[in-house]
Amino acid sequence: MVIEQALSVMLLAASLLKGGMDVAMPDKNIDGTFFLINRSQMISEDYVPKTRITDLAGLSQSMREDAATALEEMFAAAKADGVRLATVSGYRSYSKQNTIYERKVASAGIEVADSYVALPGSSEHQLGLAMDVTKSTSSSLSSKFGTTTEGQWVAENAHLYGFIIRYQEGMEEITGYAYEPWHIRYIGKEYAKAVYKSGLPLDLYVSLHRMELYTYLVQQTNEVLP
Ligand code: DAL
Ligand code: ZN
Repeated sequence: MVIEQALSVMLLAASLLKGGMDVAMPDKNIDGTFFLINRSQMISEDYVPKTRITDLAGLSQSMREDAATALEEMFAAAKADGVRLATVSGYRSYSKQNTIYERKVASAGIEVADSYVALPGSSEHQLGLAMDVTKSTSSSLSSKFGTTTEGQWVAENAHLYGFIIRYQEGMEEITGYAYEPWHIRYIGKEYAKAVYKSGLPLDLYVSLHRMELYTYLVQQTNEVLP
């Protein structure tokens, strides 16, 4: 009997590890769109996603295919609403991120640099899933974008196309970055709608998702153990 119960627990763990893991913990799947990257979960300098150039107004930028297609859909919807957006910065290699970080340290000091620029290996731009966007009449990024018609349109609609405002106002302590109304991160439509509805930063949303998973596993284990 005890052997049968132990076997059940092992089978449950094995099913999670075998393919089920990506479903159970999508934030750990680096090639998935829900992968969580931040100061504590970094990636190698060798990670280079497959990207393509987006067909959008603004500076020529690239992203992963699914994110690029979703962003083109979003820009078209914005345009239909009379809102003109432009791309500023999409995929950035590890070394490009390093250059941007060092440039910011030199121009503004380490404290400001750390609030606005991720250390190389911890940027969503290296995943090919982030784009910095702004009004089509400007190519500079500022927190004022959040109060413009364009910024408000993005904040209210981006989730419908699979994007979230990753570094929200008032969540600086959790995200580790200053408010960036221009930085949108693709996580897919279903997740984006859920994360938007929760009002939580992605880091916290993922932690809660993990807690739910652990609770489920404990319940399942308790059911098969004496
Ligand atoms: N601006 C964000 C934090 C980045 O550098 O990825
Ligand atoms: Zn960004």
